[in-house]
Amino acid sequence: MSSALTDLFPHPIVQAPMAGGVSVPQLAAAVSDAGGLGFLAAGYKTADGMYQEIKQLRGLTQRPFGVNLFMPQPEYADASAVEVYSHQLAGEAAWYEVELGDPDSGRDDGYDAKLAVLLDNPVPVVSFHFGVPGGEVLESLRRAGTVTLVTATTPDEALAVQRAGADAVIVQGVEAGGHQGTHRDNPETDGTGIGLLSLIVQVRETVSLPLVAAGGIMRGSQIAAALAAGASAAQLGTAFLATQESGANALHKQALTNPLFVRTELTRAFSGRPARGLVNRFMREHGPYAPAAYPEIHHLTSPLRKKAAASGDPQGMALWAGQGHRMARELPAGQLVEVLAAELNAAWTALSGYPQGGAGR
Ligand SMILES: Cc1cc2nc3c(=O)[nH]c(=O)nc-3n(C[C@H](O)[C@H](O)[C@H](O)COP(=O)(O)O)c2cc1C
Repeated sequence: MSSALTDLFPHPIVQAPMAGGVSVPQLAAAVSDAGGLGFLAAGYKTADGMYQEIKQLRGLTQRPFGVNLFMPQPEYADASAVEVYSHQLAGEAAWYEVELGDPDSGRDDGYDAKLAVLLDNPVPVVSFHFGVPGGEVLESLRRAGTVTLVTATTPDEALAVQRAGADAVIVQGVEAGGHQGTHRDNPETDGTGIGLLSLIVQVRETVSLPLVAAGGIMRGSQIAAALAAGASAAQLGTAFLATQESGANALHKQALTNPLFVRTELTRAFSGRPARGLVNRFMREHGPYAPAAYPEIHHLTSPLRKKAAASGDPQGMALWAGQGHRMARELPAGQLVEVLAAELNAAWTALSGYPQGGAGR
C-alpha cells in the first residue's frame, strides 16, 4: 500500500528508533542512504541533545528520516512499591559499588521541549511510543509537513491511534525487542501480548491507516509475510542493533548470538515497564517481583546498568533483544538494507510471481 509514509523511502524497511545510544546518526544515515528509513531515538535525551543529533544526521544524509519520542507518563506509581524494590536492589548497589538512582528524576522525558524543537525545525517523520499524543499535536506536526506514527500493541490501541489522527500505526508484536509501546501499563494484562502476524491482521481489520509491522523480523522473507498480511512496511530493531554503525555496547551486540543467552523474556526488572531482553542474572533474580513503576525503576537502576556495562558485565545490563536475536548479522547497516530488500523480493516473487513493489503488490 503506497502512502505519505512509504512514498518517502523506496524499500519498505524502517530501522527502529533505539534509545540508550543505539540508533546513532551514523546508523540512521546509512539506513536512509540505502533506501530504508533511518530513525533517531529521542528517549532519555534532553531536547538539545535530540536537536544536536538531528543536525548531525542532516549533515550525513539528504534522505528522509524519523525521530521517536516517548509519551509522558501521567500516572504516578505506587511509591511504597518503588521503595520496597529499592531495598531488594540493595545487594546490587553494594556489589557494583554505586548508589541507586533517584526514582523521581522526571517522568515526562522532556516531551514538551522536544515537541517545540520538532515544530520549529520539522523533520520528515515523528513516531511516538508509550501512548497517543493529543489530536492537536498530531495536527500541528502535519501542518509542519511531518508524517506521524504511533505504536499500538492491540487492535483497541490502533483504533485510539486512528481516532487521534496519526498518519500510520506501528503494530508492535509481543516478539519485539525493547519496551512494548503499550499505551497504559497494566499488570493484569501480563502474558496476553499478541504475536505480530495475528496482530497485523487484527489491526488491518480494525483500522484503515497504513501499518508498520515490528517484532522479531530479521529476514526479508518475514517482511514479505508482514506485507502479505496487510502491513505497508516493517520496522526492525534487533537486526539493526547488530550492525557495524549501531551505537550498542559491544557486549550487547555479542550477546545477541552468544549461546550463553538462550532466550528472551519480557521484564520490568530494569525499567518498571515490560521490555524484552536476553535473560541474564539481573532479570532472573529481580524480574519476578519488579513493580509496574515506569520510569521510576528506569531511574533507580540506571547507575547499576551503567556500572555493569563499564565493568564488562553483561549479567547486569539491559540486553534488549527481540525473539529473532540469534539471526542477527553483523553487516554494515546499508548492506543489511540491501540484503533484506533482496530477500524480500525473492520471497515476494515466489509468492506472487511479481517482484515486490511491482504489478502484483
Ligand atoms: C535496544 C532497543 C531499544 C529500543 N528503543 C526504542 C525506542 O526508543 N523507541 C521505540 O519506539 N521503540 C524502541 N524499541 C522497540 C522497537 O521500536 C521495535 O518495536 C522492536 O525493536 C521490534 O522488534 P525487534 O527488535 O525484534 O526487531 C527498542 C528496541 C530495542 C531492541
